Amino acid sequence: MTIADTAKCMVCHATTEKDQPSIQKLKKFDDSKQPVPWVQVYSVPALAFWSHQTHLEAKVECAECHGDVAQMETMRKVTDVTTMAGCVACHTAKDAPTGCLVCHELQLSRLSSGPLPAWLRGQSLGK
Ligand code: HEC
Ligand code: HEC
Ligand code: HEC
Ligand code: HEC
Repeated sequence: MTIADTAKCMVCHATTEKDQPSIQKLKKFDDSKQPVPWVQVYSVPALAFWSHQTHLEAKVECAECHGDVAQMETMRKVTDVTTMAGCVACHTAKDAPTGCLVCHELQLSRLSSGPLPAWLRGQSLGK
């Protein structure tokens, strides 16, 4: 997912709500050609592979993972989808794969030159 750049926001906000403090702040970023320093609310650590695309292709709704965003004044975290427990709970419920390699493949390929770390020994690694 990406968030539109300030020039796109200003297509509307040059006029819409332009006296609101939040929009004046937005205009300052746009005038100085600075990107908005967004605070990330949902974030998956690099040790797990994550892609929105696979989930949207599987027709999982935004609200299932992010809650009823349209009703939120300020974005906040309302689910545990960024944790392994949250990922695996939904994968189990929807018959999606739960083998370790499904989410940790990229990290494993980095480890291929050495022995497996202790936590991986004896695990079923396949998909
Ligand atoms: C297609 C037009 C449109 C675009 C593009 C748009 N907005 Fe808005 N925005 C609106 C409208 C209309 C409202 C008022 C909605 C309401 O009051 O319920 C609004 C409200 C807001 C508010 C709340 C203002 C307040 O009351 O404090 C913020 C902040 C905001 N927009 C930020 C953005 C940002 C950041 C972008 C670009 C990533 C953006 N908007 C792009 C139409 C747009
Ligand atoms: C299966 C769960 C899931 C679904 C469905 C989903 N998301 Fe996400 N979303 C996530 C996760 C997990 C992250 C954190 C990703 C990361 O760290 O890169 C995220 C991150 C984001 C971010 C970035 C947040 C930030 O603070 O930088 C945006 C924007 C977003 N999602 C919008 C959407 C929209 C719009 C939809 C529907 C079209 C959607 N998501 C559907 C799980 C989901
Ligand atoms: C709300 C439900 C839901 C959540 C939460 C969720 N997933 Fe998924 N995920 C799915 C579904 C459904 C599929 C599609 C499975 C299929 O196509 O068979 C999928 C597919 C995937 C795939 C592709 C699997 C493959 O090989 O086809 C990966 C990788 C993945 N998810 C990682 C994650 C990670 C990492 C998280 C947590 C950060 C997560 N998912 C959270 C429902 C979810
Ligand atoms: C559906 C996706 C998914 C699957 C399947 C999955 N993981 Fe994870 N795993 C994650 C995510 C996301 C994180 C990071 C968030 C967290 O720590 O909860 C994580 C974190 C971890 C961590 C913590 C690493 C640290 O340094 O904190 C370990 C260890 C781990 N996974 C091992 C495994 C093993 C072993 C399997 C197979 C039994 C597995 N994972 C299957 C998504 C997954």
